Amino acid sequence: MKGVLIWVLRLWSVVGIGLSRSEYGLEELKAKESLLSYLEKDAVSSDANSLMVPLTLIQGAASKGAVCLDGTPPGYHLDRGLASGANSWLIQLEGGGWCTDIRTCVSRKTTRRGSSKFMERQINFTGILSNKAEENPDFYNWNRVKLRYCDGASFAGEGQNEANQLYFRGQRIWSAAMEELMANGMQNAEQALLSGCSAGGLASILHCDEFKYLFPKTTKVKCLSDAGLFLDATNVAGGHTLRDMYGGVVTLQGVQKNLPNTCTSQMDPTSCFFPQNLIANIKTPMFLLNAAYDAWQVQESLIPSSADPHGYWNDCKMDRSHCNSSQMQFLQDFRNQMLDAVNVFSMSDQNGLFINSCFAHCQSERQDTWYGNDSPRIGSKAIAVSVGDWFFDRTAVKAIDCPYPCDNTCHDLVFNDVTSTITISRSTRLKFSLLNLLSAFLISLICSKCTMEFQFGQ
Ligand SMILES: *[C@@H]1O[C@H](CO)[C@@H](O)[C@H](O)[C@H]1NC(C)=O
Ligand SMILES: *[C@@H]1O[C@H](CO)[C@@H](O)[C@H](O)[C@H]1NC(C)=O
Repeated sequence: MKGVLIWVLRLWSVVGIGLSRSEYGLEELKAKESLLSYLEKDAVSSDANSLMVPLTLIQGAASKGAVCLDGTPPGYHLDRGLASGANSWLIQLEGGGWCTDIRTCVSRKTTRRGSSKFMERQINFTGILSNKAEENPDFYNWNRVKLRYCDGASFAGEGQNEANQLYFRGQRIWSAAMEELMANGMQNAEQALLSGCSAGGLASILHCDEFKYLFPKTTKVKCLSDAGLFLDATNVAGGHTLRDMYGGVVTLQGVQKNLPNTCTSQMDPTSCFFPQNLIANIKTPMFLLNAAYDAWQVQESLIPSSADPHGYWNDCKMDRSHCNSSQMQFLQDFRNQMLDAVNVFSMSDQNGLFINSCFAHCQSERQDTWYGNDSPRIGSKAIAVSVGDWFFDRTAVKAIDCPYPCDNTCHDLVFNDVTSTITISRSTRLKFSLLNLLSAFLISLICSKCTMEFQFGQ
């Protein structure tokens, strides 16, 4: 009888440990999610001054197997162009990290990043998507589209996992969306710009030439990647966090077959998910907009918590003004790697660059960084003006900032909101640890009693 009780308690303690682990995992996922949302500034609520654009689900997509991770149809938001912009199209690919294994992909199924059931029914069009000339001087009257991201592999996966009812159909979503937009007037485009930020910025690099080939030769087609320059970098502990993540995405989601052959014939597929191995071979004109100290990469690739378990880097990671000289040197090395990565790319006349020495992420989507009185500049030129000058061939744009701290126009991100989520995750962990301690204590109590009884019984 007692033996059974002990085993029940032991089981409970094991379950407790398991629970605390998975609970911690969940909180960790939530923290990562809120970091992404913070960085990519989700614009959902509405006020009088904002342009809210409704979500359209791609109805025919499911029959082509073009579905989100959970099997629901993908979607987009379209605001029609006017007057001189009526035959110009801007496609913005939404970002939102990647899911790298079954667990992280399954958890996306109940969020907007993996299911259209959870997508906002309308979103705020700001920055490069704004319809106001004073906020978006060159693209405001174009047809502007935001394609939602719900596959977790930068619109490039192909496959499925039956056991967990997961669909990896990024590439099919891309194709179905392009087909739908072509049928909705994009086939008559005189000019088109494929853009995207973060995981969407990587997608813009991956799909740039495919996009170009949708159109006749006479259409002016270019691509913009914002915060998509993810480097194959070494973290503060000497590990390769992003390479490990990308290895997971590429393998799990069957990305290899959709990567450019010019790269996969030379390198392993995971390397071919890194822009540094792709950008020199893109035939279509491309613009790279990136913060040299990209806030997401600093947080998740260079200084992930797993590489800094004691939190020595926490202050620096949350706020650059708290970095000491050796930490700053590490970040300067990262900037140098970024400049090396764009070296060959930048030699082509058709390409453009804007690498500012800021701690930011997704500067084309936010109004404050895209275009405004005090928006970031290099050589007195704002980001919106630089991208416009390059797109319309007004001037060449190869803007590379001097290293930190010389640029006083930055809108650097400081993380407080995100820290509070991480704090919650610690307290949850503590609660479960206490549960475990309690069960261990009960086991030892009953166990000593039972040993005694056992001895007396003898
Ligand atoms: C929508 O975007 C505009 C321009 O950035 C901003 O002024 C407005 O506050 C935003 N609305 C919401 C509710 O986010
Ligand atoms: C900077 O901080 C790190 C982490 O706390 C520490 O290891 C390093 O010695 C410090 N460097 C300097 C120059 O103070």
